Amino acid sequence: MADLDDIRDGKNYGVGVQQKTEGFYLKGSNNLDWGMKDRLSRIFNPATGRTVMLAFDHGFIMGPTSGVERIDLSILPLIEYADCLMCARGVLRSLVPPTSRKPVCLRSDAGTSILTELNNNVVIDIQDAVKLNASAIAVMVAIGDHSYEAQTVANLYQAVDAGQMSGIPVMGVTAVGKDMARDARYFSLASRVCAENGANIVKTYYTEGFEKVVACCPVPIVIAGGKKLPELEALELAYMAIQSGAAGVDMGRNVFQSEKPAAMIQAVGAVVHKGLKPADAFQMFNDL
Ligand code: 5RP
Repeated sequence: MADLDDIRDGKNYGVGVQQKTEGFYLKGSNNLDWGMKDRLSRIFNPATGRTVMLAFDHGFIMGPTSGVERIDLSILPLIEYADCLMCARGVLRSLVPPTSRKPVCLRSDAGTSILTELNNNVVIDIQDAVKLNASAIAVMVAIGDHSYEAQTVANLYQAVDAGQMSGIPVMGVTAVGKDMARDARYFSLASRVCAENGANIVKTYYTEGFEKVVACCPVPIVIAGGKKLPELEALELAYMAIQSGAAGVDMGRNVFQSEKPAAMIQAVGAVVHKGLKPADAFQMFNDL
């Protein structure tokens, strides 16, 4: 039986004080369930609404490419500066300490390597994402690819269904095949298709006219860094994306292929969360 000793009558009902009903701070996310919002708020800092995701999922397609040959040596020291980790499940289990206490955006499609054209990608079982305590799952979509557009959109669609059941947000990752234009028109289309099919976050590439890409996408957009650029240019890229309305970056090579990866991720963080201008962030990078 419950302990009935000294059960006191309530006194502080706050009668007349209206209970606050707050909206959720992320674009397009107000109607999601509590678990989804909780996970999104681990990824996107509630104080700024933005995120610095550290992407090191490259090996799942590229193998031991420059900067990710030894995750333990190159990536683990950067974890403390990231808001969220983006990686595949093998590296997560084998190398990322579960004591890191960082949210994980789990790369969740598989089936391709750089040795072949895009393949018939499949999505990992949502139960594995649950076991890994993923805060989001990332699924690539190849809009405009005649062979695999339908398959990859179906993958995203199914991932969203599974994610909804488990309260796990889905990030749609827009692929850029050889034949696809890298302009605002294409990225607007690809991002919107991801969001319309239920993606809670979209990852795409910065391009001229990016404010239009952001404006017509009903959920937060983060940008990939893309190929390694000189540090100042990478900081300019992050700055322009944020100024255009991006909710953050999901950056890999421009961090871990930098000569000073820890300085670079901190400088990127200052651009994303504090709006530091590229020249000031570059100074910060040099000073660190
Ligand atoms: C590849 C990815 C990568 O994680 C993404 O491209 C981010 O890395 P980078 O900044 O190096 O481009 O999703 O599909």
